[in-house]
Amino acid sequence: MALNTIYYEDCIANIPKRIDDESIDLIIADPPFGIRFDGKGSQYNRKSEFVVSGYSEIKQANYHEFSKAWIKAIYPILKETGSAYIFSGWTNLKDILIAIDDAGFTTQNHLIWKYQFGVFTKRKYVTSHYHILFLVKNPKKYYFNKIDHYPEDVWEIKREYLPGEKKNSTKLPDKLVEKLLLYSSQENDLVLDPFMGNGTTAVACIKHKRNYLGFEINPNAKEIIDANISKAQES
Ligand SMILES: C[S@@+](CC[C@H](N)C(=O)[O-])C[C@H]1O[C@@H](n2cnc3c(N)ncnc32)[C@H](O)[C@@H]1O
Repeated sequence: MALNTIYYEDCIANIPKRIDDESIDLIIADPPFGIRFDGKGSQYNRKSEFVVSGYSEIKQANYHEFSKAWIKAIYPILKETGSAYIFSGWTNLKDILIAIDDAGFTTQNHLIWKYQFGVFTKRKYVTSHYHILFLVKNPKKYYFNKIDHYPEDVWEIKREYLPGEKKNSTKLPDKLVEKLLLYSSQENDLVLDPFMGNGTTAVACIKHKRNYLGFEINPNAKEIIDANISKAQES
């Protein structure tokens, strides 16, 4: 198993044995949310020429099956001392929660990431949060670096605006991913991101001296991920 590798055009659920059992210290997973999102709509306030095509969304009807398959695949490869963070919107959260329980994870926290804007609505509230499920395999053994005295479970972190930069649809803020890394991993640890997107997790790993592994099914994302990794390696 080579460190700092990204498996392109592939899904963790297809090839679990490519990664050794009990080898991963931390998993950061930001899967497609099953909401017919392609990241190009004007409601997302973006110019479509700056968004690469090929974003792989999952049909809502298949979301339960999809979630079950990849969450089952990440359980054996996580160390007993390790932990996993899974991002979810509220729409298909139930599928994720069921899959987490079925796989055998223990949920330690249900974090809320509050961001500064959502899609404009006329007859309902604007969604301006995501769920981040903090999971462990062994509640007695997992690593936790309590960097704040009073670490609350609601995190208000601004989304990044990257005007004129090419993106693979959604991107988590660097600050958010770095916070997860600093709480739940140490230098030289191995961090897995099964849904690389723009390579945000790999970039944070390079900055904070962690190793990474990742998967990304969209072949058009490669040029963006590779460019972001090169930039991080140079700085
Ligand atoms: C929400 S985005 C991740 C964004 C990422 N966290 C970032 O900050 O850049 C989800 C990504 O998962 C990819 N994807 C969808 N289905 C996949 C699968 N089965 N295996 C691997 N990647 C997949 C999509 O193409 C998309 O790039």
